[in-house]
Amino acid sequence: MKRVLIATEKPFAPAATKQIAGILTNAGYEVRLLEKYASKAELLEAVKDVQAIIVRSDVVDREVLNAANALKVVVRAGSGFDTIDVAACKEHGVVVMNTPGQNSNAVAELAIGFMVFMARGNYKGVAGTELKGKTLGIYGCGYIGRRVAKIAQCFGMKVIALDPCITKIGMDTYDIVVADSVNEIFEKSDYVSLHIPSNPSTKKSINFELMSKMPKGATIVNTARKEVIDEEGLKKMLEERPDFKYVTDIAPDCHADLDGKFGFRYYATPKKQGAETAEANVNAGIAAAEQIVAYLEKGDQTFKVTA
Ligand code: 3PG
Repeated sequence: MKRVLIATEKPFAPAATKQIAGILTNAGYEVRLLEKYASKAELLEAVKDVQAIIVRSDVVDREVLNAANALKVVVRAGSGFDTIDVAACKEHGVVVMNTPGQNSNAVAELAIGFMVFMARGNYKGVAGTELKGKTLGIYGCGYIGRRVAKIAQCFGMKVIALDPCITKIGMDTYDIVVADSVNEIFEKSDYVSLHIPSNPSTKKSINFELMSKMPKGATIVNTARKEVIDEEGLKKMLEERPDFKYVTDIAPDCHADLDGKFGFRYYATPKKQGAETAEANVNAGIAAAEQIVAYLEKGDQTFKVTA
């Protein structure tokens, strides 16, 4: 019997876990659950004899792979796979997949909510501003970026975007103006919403030089990854530009230095919650389970990702 481990330090909503287990059990697999694990040792023990693992932002590195003797496939129930050593997986003959688009609406709604929250002084009863008529720059325009664009357009925002992988023709369908450069996004946008992955070319790429191009009163919304921000640059920006705001779903390492120091201009959620909705958990979880069955039974690698 094939064994599938659901290894989630941050568990799925119970409805999602139930549906994931249902799909796998119907396929004749044994389902094992490791939730809220406190140490890596627990994960190393749990992966020993499973053929497949479903994870969220859980770390799958060489140590995990060395412990996982029967492993064939890891599915990241979500979009970003920066916590998985994809190159090491390849060396171990383990296929890695994600579930693109399945949690994108949840993240997009949070990004828009962040904009309103910052525009309205953190809901503390002060006079604020409106999103209508403002320009939103979307940096990284995959499933999440495009969903943010659509909602923002309903608010009456002008949307410009840039994505290294999507051409102008591809964006026309979404009525999004494509910027010529990253600089243009930051120069023209009252709000910049980040949706780029964390990889060697994006790490610390949002630096002081780029941020300082933003117009007066600008806000950066980060629901992507903390690693894409140059934290020294962020600190400098908040210190030197009393009009600048930063809101994030992933607290920077320097959070303690920033928290409380800049009033309504800085906010970080206590724990990443972009994809924390029952709907996103169900969608991504079901997709992950179905992809595992499709791969183990038919070799379907549709959602395979590469390093
Ligand atoms: C993703 O990459 O899919 C999101 O960042 C959500 O991550 P999570 O599953 O850890 O909440």
